Amino acid sequence: MTAVYLDNNATTAIDPRVGNVMLAQFLDGPSNASSQHIYGRQARSSLDAATEAIGSYLGTRLDQPDGARLIITSGGTESNHQALTGLGDRGPIILSRIEHPSVVATAKWLEQEGRSLRWLDVDQDGLVQIDQLQPLISAEGCDAALVSIMAANNETGVIQPISKAAEICQAAGIPFHVDATQTVGKLPLNLQDSGISALTFTAHKFHGPAGVGALWLAPELRIEPVFHGGEQQLETRPGTEPVALVVGMAEALKLAVNEMNHSTEHCQMLRDRLERGLIDRHPDLVVQGKKHQRLPGTSSISFLKTDRQSMLMALDMIGIACSSGSACSSGSSPPSHVLTAMNRAAGEIESTLRFGVSKFSTIEEIDKSIDAISNAYNKLKKKTNVDN
Ligand SMILES: Cc1ncc(COP(=O)(O)O)c(C=O)c1O
Repeated sequence: MTAVYLDNNATTAIDPRVGNVMLAQFLDGPSNASSQHIYGRQARSSLDAATEAIGSYLGTRLDQPDGARLIITSGGTESNHQALTGLGDRGPIILSRIEHPSVVATAKWLEQEGRSLRWLDVDQDGLVQIDQLQPLISAEGCDAALVSIMAANNETGVIQPISKAAEICQAAGIPFHVDATQTVGKLPLNLQDSGISALTFTAHKFHGPAGVGALWLAPELRIEPVFHGGEQQLETRPGTEPVALVVGMAEALKLAVNEMNHSTEHCQMLRDRLERGLIDRHPDLVVQGKKHQRLPGTSSISFLKTDRQSMLMALDMIGIACSSGSACSSGSSPPSHVLTAMNRAAGEIESTLRFGVSKFSTIEEIDKSIDAISNAYNKLKKKTNVDN
């Protein structure tokens, strides 16, 4: 049975065009971009071309001495770790309560090492309260050293006020890191003059390969390395670069940017169809974050009087793949820290599932999903009532 894949915030299927480009690169021979022979020079040239192409799709030049640069990493988790541990000396960090676990857990680990944290709240629909930023920067008689806010939330899809935050950070002279893992390739981005100091992204969220991502750094921003022992990437992230993965990331980003208008329209149409179809049948459903601008393909829905894990398993059995939150918490599924920060009612937190469509999703899949989800909801809701 092929299941309908509605978990595109966790990861996306690789675009076959990206797969083909990567396969050609993988088969192109030994690829250590630091080697001084012909194979090394060829690898270096492919790597540099891919890196510069990535820069151009993000609106930033990466070929200038002392200019902006890209640190290639293994993905969003590593880029976030590098940003939090390597920027802003050892001063206080400001972050929102709805950041991805890779940011929250790193910040809490740094807190144990003596770094203080200051938290930005969100409203009931998941939008960061940006008016808290300025007072937090200068709180406790000690200026913050780093601000980290995600571009859009991975559970609700709510798009965050990044331009406003960048303006405030720039005026205060504080580095501003953005976890743009859910928006790169989905929303337009022009890093030039954006006021952003560092930006995280990862290829597998925009139909590229898993295992590769990057941390973009604004000109002249220095970062403490996490790894040591090699000269690659100006010694900030040593280790042999995965040339074929970077080439794949560049190709995936090119396609995502060039086809963004069409994908956005398509995903939004399908997401709205899914929400409308379900709400028509079950007016008691709660769509989280609906009051704000959201990512085009993301929907977070509370199926009141059910338990999200039972719903998730029931849907999996009938061929619908979705999620009960961020991928990292699926399985054990502790209550969502995002919905908790939004101060949602316990019944909503217990019963919320996330659906994410992509450019590969179809109307037929959505219509099938509406029927399947609706049936599962009727059954599980009824069961709860009987048990009670
Ligand atoms: C907002 C956000 N940040 C970071 C990550 C981690 O990315 P990766 O899986 O590439 O490590 C994710 C992945 O779910 C995410 O959604």
